[in-house]
Amino acid sequence: MKRTGRLCLAVAGGLFLAALPASGLPAVEFSQAIPGAAATPPLGWNSWNTFRCGINESLIEHTADAMVSSGMRDAGYRYVVVDDCWVASQRTSTGELQADPVRFPSGMRALGDYLHARGLLFGIYSSPSEATCAQTYGTYPGRTGSRGHEQIDASTFADWGVDYLKYDWCAPGAAVGEQRQAFNAMRDALRSTGRPIVYSINANSGIVGAVPGSSGSWRWTSSMSRATNDVVPAWRLGRGPYDYQGIADIIDSAALLTTQFGQGFWLDPDMLEVGVDGEPLNYPGLSTAESRTQLSMWAMMAAPLIAGNDLSTMSAETGRLLTNRGMLAIDQDPAGRTGEPLPGTEGSVWTRYLADGSVAIAFYNADVSDRVIDLDPSRLGQFGCIENVWAGTKSDLSGHMRANVAAHDTQLFRLTADCQLSSS
Ligand code: GLA
Repeated sequence: MKRTGRLCLAVAGGLFLAALPASGLPAVEFSQAIPGAAATPPLGWNSWNTFRCGINESLIEHTADAMVSSGMRDAGYRYVVVDDCWVASQRTSTGELQADPVRFPSGMRALGDYLHARGLLFGIYSSPSEATCAQTYGTYPGRTGSRGHEQIDASTFADWGVDYLKYDWCAPGAAVGEQRQAFNAMRDALRSTGRPIVYSINANSGIVGAVPGSSGSWRWTSSMSRATNDVVPAWRLGRGPYDYQGIADIIDSAALLTTQFGQGFWLDPDMLEVGVDGEPLNYPGLSTAESRTQLSMWAMMAAPLIAGNDLSTMSAETGRLLTNRGMLAIDQDPAGRTGEPLPGTEGSVWTRYLADGSVAIAFYNADVSDRVIDLDPSRLGQFGCIENVWAGTKSDLSGHMRANVAAHDTQLFRLTADCQLSSS
């Protein structure tokens, strides 16, 4: 293996970290809008998908406890993100944001301390407008967004020990120039605090091509950027560009984008619906096969894995799916390259090249019935060993790969040179 050195260059709008091989040619390029914050896709939990505005201090603390006791923290899930509806409807007399006193009576700094004491990291939500999304749509009181208050809000977040900011545009229409100005203002404010805070933006609120935020890259602005409208716990809805999306809808639209992402700037196809009860919103929820598909395909995209289920009632099966070590190793691969559909397979085979020379392969069956998917692996290189990630098996690889994949399911494989040599 070639020795590499690290070079840090300041370029317009961001820091550019390049790992240089001995030859001096860049091998990989890491863009980090907030240096040091998200070298691999963030893993964590967010309150929105299950609880919407029904959040409070004890819910978040119990979730944190469950993250530890369920083994999720030790598997790598560390960010606990408090989404919309934590904020009071008025700022303090000196202009700072403050927590809703009924929902979070001990305040957000105390909540951050609670999380940090358990080896977890603290995430919070705001919007680059006058109102947060729930405030905009009238489901939560007040107009306490961060637009025009970037510096003071970033300082407040840093002071509270915040490690992750979800910053949500929450509107289908906007001029991209206006969006850039607003998102960059918060990026600069976060940077100036000196605290590494993962910067997660949603410039889209709609699907690719239909909304202004999807044109152009946010690589120099944020650590990750939403590429879809809001996910719901369903397979495929096939609705308009500004409507909710099921996970198959998202795979279709995100497949077009993966190559724009990776290496410190992560594609955000929205949060996980694995184990989320769809009933209150009249969605079906994901089956086990569909849950495997969401995790497999998000791992292939090098996407953040932000669980959205109620951890206090999580089934053993959901826990096993979320903490599958082989799936997480693919998602978190240090080379940070994204996967993509293999040409000629109509999206049923995805490949992702990994740091140790191995390759991850997903056999994705979007059909309503079972289907045989096959592949000549010599198209991808010389490999002697195949790991079946969900089955937890490893065997010698010879000839064609061929699998019967159930409807809506995904089989995930990792090919390495030799089963004796591979440690994964
Ligand atoms: C938007 C986002 C969601 C969630 C809500 C909160 O819809 O896309 O993920 O943050 O706002 O109001």
